[in-house]
This record gives sequence, structure tokens and C-alpha cells, in this order.
Amino acid sequence: MSTPGLAHAQIAWDEAGTALAPDYGDVYHPRSGAQAQARAVFLAGNGLPARWAGRRDFVILETGLGLAHNLLATWAAWRDDPARPTRLHYVAIEAQPPRREDLARAHAGQPQQALAKHLLQAWPPPLRGVHRLDFEGGALRLLLALGDVQELLPQLVLRADAFYLDGFAPDRNPRMWDARVLKALGRRAAAGATAATWSVARGVREGLTSAGFVCARVEGSGGKRQVLRARHAPRQGQRGLIDEASANETARRAIVVGAGLAGACCAAALATQGCEVTVLERRAAPQPQQLQEVQRLAGIFHATVHADDSRHARLLRAGALHTARVLATLDPTRVPHDRHSLLRVERELDARAMQARLQRLKLPPDFVQALDADAASARAGVTLARPAWYFPGGGWIAPIAFVAERLSRPGLRCLWASAVAALRRIHGQWQALDGDGRVLAQAPHLVLANADAANALLATVPAAPFALARERGQVSGFDAAPTLGCALAGDGYALPLPGGGLLCGATRQPSDEDPELRLADHEANFERLQRLCGLQPPADAALWHGRVGWRVFSADRLPLAGPLPALQMPAGARMDQARLLPREPGLHLACAFGSRGLTLAPLLAELVAARITGTPLPLEQELIDAVDPGRFQVRAARAASAAGGG
Ligand SMILES: Cc1cc2nc3c(=O)[nH]c(=O)nc-3n(C[C@H](O)[C@H](O)[C@H](O)COP(=O)(O)OP(=O)(O)OC[C@H]3O[C@@H](n4cnc5c(N)ncnc54)[C@H](O)[C@@H]3O)c2cc1C
Ligand SMILES: C[S@@+](CC[C@H](N)C(=O)[O-])C[C@H]1O[C@@H](n2cnc3c(N)ncnc32)[C@H](O)[C@@H]1O
Repeated sequence: MSTPGLAHAQIAWDEAGTALAPDYGDVYHPRSGAQAQARAVFLAGNGLPARWAGRRDFVILETGLGLAHNLLATWAAWRDDPARPTRLHYVAIEAQPPRREDLARAHAGQPQQALAKHLLQAWPPPLRGVHRLDFEGGALRLLLALGDVQELLPQLVLRADAFYLDGFAPDRNPRMWDARVLKALGRRAAAGATAATWSVARGVREGLTSAGFVCARVEGSGGKRQVLRARHAPRQGQRGLIDEASANETARRAIVVGAGLAGACCAAALATQGCEVTVLERRAAPQPQQLQEVQRLAGIFHATVHADDSRHARLLRAGALHTARVLATLDPTRVPHDRHSLLRVERELDARAMQARLQRLKLPPDFVQALDADAASARAGVTLARPAWYFPGGGWIAPIAFVAERLSRPGLRCLWASAVAALRRIHGQWQALDGDGRVLAQAPHLVLANADAANALLATVPAAPFALARERGQVSGFDAAPTLGCALAGDGYALPLPGGGLLCGATRQPSDEDPELRLADHEANFERLQRLCGLQPPADAALWHGRVGWRVFSADRLPLAGPLPALQMPAGARMDQARLLPREPGLHLACAFGSRGLTLAPLLAELVAARITGTPLPLEQELIDAVDPGRFQVRAARAASAAGGG
């Protein structure tokens, strides 16, 4: 198993300040200057900025982010260009991300100080997988794919307009220029894509040629006699890597059904991607007096540490990192939250065994630490009897305020008291109908973000329902509370409320539709609180408050996020992998977030929006498959084939 934690780059610096890579016996950039190379080899080599002029989205894929000189030069060129594309997607693969200190040192004295500072602030812990960092209000999106190129590239779902090949000299680092790597780049090329590199090595030219590129050696500069420019011109057409419906550039309108956490996040993600969005919600518009509830309701978000770093753990890690990044852009007085600390009390391992697990997984301390009971208690401000995992990037959020903020994004409108009773597709448009058959809204794309009520609407299409389980839950709180230093999770959870006081929970009651608060449930929650951290509520039950809700789980307890499989499967359709399933044009799901909506909905909403807009997907293919609504059909087909001996 590859460890989730990655080693940082080992960088040495020569007297002139050039970064060296002793492990590869190479330099990070020519001594004549990283910026000059970025402009002459990579930007000019790809015909930029001219080629991106007037585009809505433009995608660059770089092999070897290194010290991000090429990224910053491209970002600066994008900023300076009045004809820049509305959104620039910069996808970069990197196996050994530099330490923050090295990144800062590389850019000290360079022209793009301000941009470098933004990058440094957002720099993630060295964790394998795709990290999406947004800059310029989401107009410049960096998809940082951390890990070895041969592992990560096949996991990227995108179409690139330009490639920057910058992975140390091919003779010193053949892994980065392997023919399979170049083939995988070719498979990710958009129509008319170009590639550029300073290497004119024969192996590179031959590899690119067999990947469908036409190569040309042109005069170089800065000590390079020649550099390479290439244009993608495959002899056969490209197999569809992205959803075909999204290829329709004019189709940037969408309906989102449901204004809960998932619907609000999907609507905001789509609006940021330039979609015109209508949200339909059956509840009435929130009233100002609900402000008090904002102060009294919060939920936790965090990653988890699994011995085998399962897909579940990887998904939660990606989600928690993303939620924390979203929160970093929000004013905590408007959306109360803490994104700097959460303790997860460990029930089985002792602190030494926890430490050993972290070392084996190479998980870095800016992501998670193992604290013994004393250290954990000091951080929590209460006495914990057990050691705990400390997540410096976890915490809590006031969801009502978060949802309101997501729904206030420009480009989206929310129609309250608009219950959708049926769906219909006419002339390539999805229509959402009310109980009288009137059209509430229509658009080429429709996202069902209405929890388990999605099944009732799927029945009107008609599509088969998903197996969804509903579980009642009650949280309990009180206003007068001793201060809790941070959110706690374990058997139940506890968190400090934005308005002062404490919230804890939560009960789990399958097949229970009672919407009323129950005293017995408060008592169960407070007993759990006492076991978790020794705190007790005030004796007077009149001072207790709480809320009832329902969690919705799919059959494998992972969310459903992505396009619905085709209602009529064409004969001969490949049913063995979710990624190959034909799709119902324009119909998407974002539901079944179970008890992890705050950790997963913001990221999976971005996944749904990216699939709709045809922009690079913000997760690895394996994790996309894990939440794909088509996975159950694939499992059923595989089981049928196994039973039939096929
Ligand atoms: C007690 C409890 C504690 C929890 N604690 C946490 C926590 O600490 N951290 C965490 O991450 N998660 C927590 N969760 C889970 C979290 O609340 C959910 O994952 C999340 O709310 C799911 O959001 P959603 O948007 O999918 O569903 P919902 O919030 O249910 O939103 C669905 C929306 O769709 C609307 N709708 C339904 N049908 C229609 C229709 N036909 N037309 C129009 N609108 C429609 C509904 O009115 C609703 O507003 C908790 C849940 C419970 C019950
Ligand atoms: C020349 S440097 C890149 C410089 C960078 N483009 C810049 O603008 O600063 C090459 C980078 O490729 C990375 N690299 C080398 N082998 C790799 C591999 N197998 N997978 C992913 N990245 C790799 C190195 O860690 C290094 O950061």
C-alpha cells in the first residue's frame, strides 16, 4: 500500500540561490532564471496567452509542480491579460511537494510576491491525492495532484488544453517521461491541445508521437539550444473521459432540488462555475427570528485515521481538507465556525500504538497528531480519560449560517415554498413540476439534492429507487456551560456553541419518524457527554434545548454524488465499471450524506458541478467511483454475471 503521507522534497540551494535536487542530480530550473524559462518554454511553447483568449475555461496540466515557478508565471500572465479565460484550471502533479520554507525561499525576491503569498497560505499538508485550491474567488483553480505521476495521472479525469512537461531530465528521472505516462497525457488532451518542454530527448519525442502528438524542435534560449513544442493530432478520435452532456458549452443552466446542506453547496459550486442556478425548496423562506437557532446549532467536520487507509478514510480526508479550505474564505462572524481543532477520542489504541500507526502511514503533524490523555485534556479544556487524535484542520460549523451564505452567491436564486412533485424531460430540458403539474423551473441539468425524497421524484421519471435508510437523530444543548476548548468526537460528540454553551449528541434511531424533542433522548445524550469528557448539563431541564433531524444513508453508507445511469441501457453497454456506464443526460444526484454532510457535501458538490460543466474533477477516479450513483448497478451486474458463470 502507498502511504497516505508523502515525503517532502529534499532541496539544496547553491550560492546563487538556485534550487537543486540532490536525489536527481538536477536543478529545479536553469540558472538563467525560472521565470524566463516559464515564459519562453512553457507559456510561449503552448501559444499562451493568445490561445486562451476569450475562453470560458482553459485547462493546463503540468507534470512536476516543483517550486511552482511555472504556476506563478502563468497566473501572472492570466491576471495581466484583458482577454483571459473566465476560469483557469491549473492541474499539477507532484510526488515530493516542497516544504513551506522552501517554497517561501524560492519566491523571495521574485516578481510575483503577492501570488506566492496566497499560494503559501493555501499550501496543503503533504498528503497523497487531489487537493483543490481556489484563488481569485474561484477563477483560478489549482488542482494539486500529490503523488507519483504513474499512480496519479490515471486517476485524473479532465481534458487539458495545454501540457507543461517539467519533470527533471529524462535520463535522470525516466519515470516521469515513461511512454505510458505520455500516452496517459494524450488520453487527457482536449481538441487542439498543445504540449511544451525544454527536453528534446529522442525518447520524449517518440513517446509524445506515439501518444498522438506532432512534435517540433524549435530554437531555445537561456542555455538551451533547442526546446520542444507539440500539438495533439491523434489519428483516431478521443474516447470520452468526461461526461458527454457537459461538452455542450451552451448548457450552463441548472436546477437544484433542495436547499439543505447538499443543495446549497451544489448551487454555490455551480454558480461559481458560471452556471445560472435555480434552487427549489419546499420549506418556507427562513425567518429572521431563526437567528437564535444559528447560535444554538452546529455540527462537526473532520477526517479519520484508518489502519489500512481505506477509500472511506481517503474520501473523508479529502472532504475535511476541502471544508476547511472553504471555511478559510468565510467571515466567522457571518458563518460561525472553528477550522483549527478537533479531538477524536480513541477507544481502542493507546497513545504509543496511535503514534506507531501515524508513523506507518507517514501522516504529517499538520494533518493529525496522536495525543495522550493528558495532552488531549489540556487542549480540550476538560478531562479526557483516553488518548485522542488531534486534527489541526477539523472543527465545527453553524450549518444554518453556512447554508445561507452558500445560497447568497451571485448567479443563483432560491425559490422557497416550491415543492417539486414530478420531473419531466422535454426537448433536452429537465422540468421540475409542482403538485398541479405547473413548471416551476426548467434547465438542461437538474440535481436532486433532496435527501431520501429524491426517490419519490425518480419514480416520476421513472427510474428505479435507491436503497436509502433514514435514521432519526436528536442533539441536545444548554447555554450555561464550562468552556470546551475545541470540538470533541468519540462515542458521540460535543462542541462549543457559537452563542456560548455546548451542544452534544446525537441519538441514532432507525425507522423513527417522531419530529418532537424527547426528554429521554436529552438524557441519553448527556450521559454520553459525561462519558466523553465528564461534563454535565445544568440540573434544570428547562435550560436544555435541542433539535431533531434525519440522517440518510445509502446501502454502503457512502453518498450518492454524480450523474444518474441511463434509464434505458443501450444494448451492449459496459456494466463492469461505474466510470463506463452510459448516463441519463443532465440528471444528477447529491444525497445520502449520512452523518458526514459537513465533511463531504462541500467537496462532493464541487464534483457534481465539475461533472456538469466538464471541468477537471476534484477527486481521484477511484473516489469518484466510490460515490458514483451507478456503483450499485455495476455491483448488481457483476453479481449476476458471477452467478451466471459469465
Ligand atoms: C441529529 C443529527 C446530528 C448531525 N450531526 C452532524 C454533524 O455533526 N456533522 C455532520 O457533518 N453532519 C451531521 N449530521 C448530518 C447532516 O445533518 C446531514 O448529512 C445533512 O444535513 C444532509 O444534508 P442534505 O442537504 O443532503 O439533506 P437535507 O438537509 O435533508 O436537505 C434536503 C432538502 O430538500 C428539501 N426537499 C425535499 N424534497 C423536496 C421536494 N420534493 N421539493 C423541494 N424541496 C425538497 C427538504 O425540505 C430539505 O430542505 C447530523 C444529522 C442529524 C440528524
Ligand atoms: C524540474 S522540477 C519542476 C519545476 C516546476 N515546474 C517549477 O515551475 O518550479 C521537477 C519536479 O518533478 C517532480 N517529480 C519527479 N519525479 C516525479 C514523479 N515520478 N511523479 C511526480 N512528480 C515527480 C519533482 O519532485 C520536482 O518537483
